[in-house]
Amino acid sequence: MIEPITVGEIGPAEVEPVTIVIFGGAGDLAHRKLLPALYNLHVDGLLPPQFAVVGISRRAMTDDAYRDFAKEGTERFSRRQREDGPWQTFAGSLFFQRGTIEDAATYQSLGARLDMIEHERGLPGNRIYYLAVPPAMFAPIIKGLAGARLIAAPGSHPFARLIVEKPIGRDLASARVIDEEVAAVFDERQIYRIDHYLGKETVQNIMVLRFANSIFEPLFNQKYIDHVQITVAEEEGVGTRAGYYEQAGALRDMLQNHILQLIALVALEPPHSLDADVVRDEKLEVIRSLRPIAGATVEAQVVRAQYAAGFEVGAPVPGYRSEPGVNPQSRTETFVALQVFIDNWRWAGVPFFVRTGKRLPKRASEISIHLKGVPPILFNADPSAPLDANVLSIRIQPNEGFALSIESKIPGPHVRVYPVKMDFQYGSTFGNGSPEAYERLLLDVMAGDATLFMRRDAVEASWQWVTAILDRWAARPDLTLPTYAAGEWGPAEADRLIESTGRRWRDL
Ligand SMILES: NC(=O)c1ccc[n+]([C@@H]2O[C@H](COP(=O)([O-])OP(=O)(O)OC[C@H]3O[C@@H](n4cnc5c(N)ncnc54)[C@H](OP(=O)(O)O)[C@@H]3O)[C@@H](O)[C@H]2O)c1
Repeated sequence: MIEPITVGEIGPAEVEPVTIVIFGGAGDLAHRKLLPALYNLHVDGLLPPQFAVVGISRRAMTDDAYRDFAKEGTERFSRRQREDGPWQTFAGSLFFQRGTIEDAATYQSLGARLDMIEHERGLPGNRIYYLAVPPAMFAPIIKGLAGARLIAAPGSHPFARLIVEKPIGRDLASARVIDEEVAAVFDERQIYRIDHYLGKETVQNIMVLRFANSIFEPLFNQKYIDHVQITVAEEEGVGTRAGYYEQAGALRDMLQNHILQLIALVALEPPHSLDADVVRDEKLEVIRSLRPIAGATVEAQVVRAQYAAGFEVGAPVPGYRSEPGVNPQSRTETFVALQVFIDNWRWAGVPFFVRTGKRLPKRASEISIHLKGVPPILFNADPSAPLDANVLSIRIQPNEGFALSIESKIPGPHVRVYPVKMDFQYGSTFGNGSPEAYERLLLDVMAGDATLFMRRDAVEASWQWVTAILDRWAARPDLTLPTYAAGEWGPAEADRLIESTGRRWRDL
């Protein structure tokens, strides 16, 4: 039986009674993620006994119809099966309020409804406003809430907190506009910017792996690490999301947020505490230390591409430009690979290779830390058959876990060396019931813990780095956009990017 060490554990005692107001409460995110996550928190006994969720959108829906909507979402998307007993109590705390974001009357009637629900349910008036709507709606909502005096001052009780979803802008300038609009009403301590990657168990485990094990951390620097690879691969194409994706592309959709956060976690200095701002300060340091890629360097260090027709699991699939809703002349990239350096003492000269894309051969997110090879003596003396270097691979999804490749002697009379693997899998050690990212993140907001959320300075530092690449692409529409057949690992240019340095992409 494993006796877990719990650090910073959140339990119901730390979560005060609260009302969660979801703008976009009848949308896809609420249906697939938020409502099922809240149900699971309820089943786990992690929600406070007094609790309410109020979904808002334009369509007409009764509370009962909203409960059915939540039920259907939970049945389809929850990690655990819905059960009637816990469902009844959970469903009783769900409410729906019809309203149009742009209409000031929405906020007056919302205020009156919240007062009523909170009075009936004995709730003290703590409120979390979740903006599950496109970013263009953030400002009108925030102004509407402020106009109706629905926002408590920072540090006061009952509290008001705000959750915003990505994308926060599409470049540095637009991100700053959104941040300013939010900051005009909410204090930074009240704002929780979600990057759901940070709620994943495997991503949280990166810091545990590094700082709870003396075997790894001493090696995490330029003296021992040859390079780092990060792959975030999706098997799916753009699907029904062309409207969003055409404006975004892989760099904005994956790199600016999730992947830069992964780099920050792999590379950060040991923080002196787990306090939210101490950890976030260290992550910011990494992002600010990324060597800028701008001007003509972009062509040398960044590969972008678009998927063409190909095969996925043996079935033919169309190219990106033939997908529904996509401009047939689209230059939106569905794949990005790049090489970046972190210009600090710890990581000087260690390349980080990143690749991400849609319609790749499989869904797989992995960070691999490639150690330097052993000297060419003893078991590595044959230059025609060099030993593989050790690799620590952190599987974010699927088959969550990590593995360490180690050279070992093959039993027998000869000294023959073979790479074997020490492999930890969450599923076999802890079972398959790990909480979903949104469960952890919603609980953290209720508890007021901002560690796993993006601070404004980090969002803007990330955009600053990414915008230099976007600017170059915008300035050079004449450059060719390579393609790759759906079901392949990106274009040949991505292979050349890494192979020109004497390395190769890891087989996944
Ligand atoms: N879906 C995901 O998995 C996911 C993942 C990460 C981030 N996000 C982000 O989360 C946000 C929401 O995404 P989503 O996929 O849930 O979008 P969605 O399915 O289009 O939902 C949008 C919701 O907003 C409501 N709405 C739209 N305009 C409104 C208005 N003027 N007044 C009041 N309500 C309005 C819609 O309902 P009515 O039409 O009834 O008003 C609907 O409930 C987006 O910013 C998205 O980028 C989504």
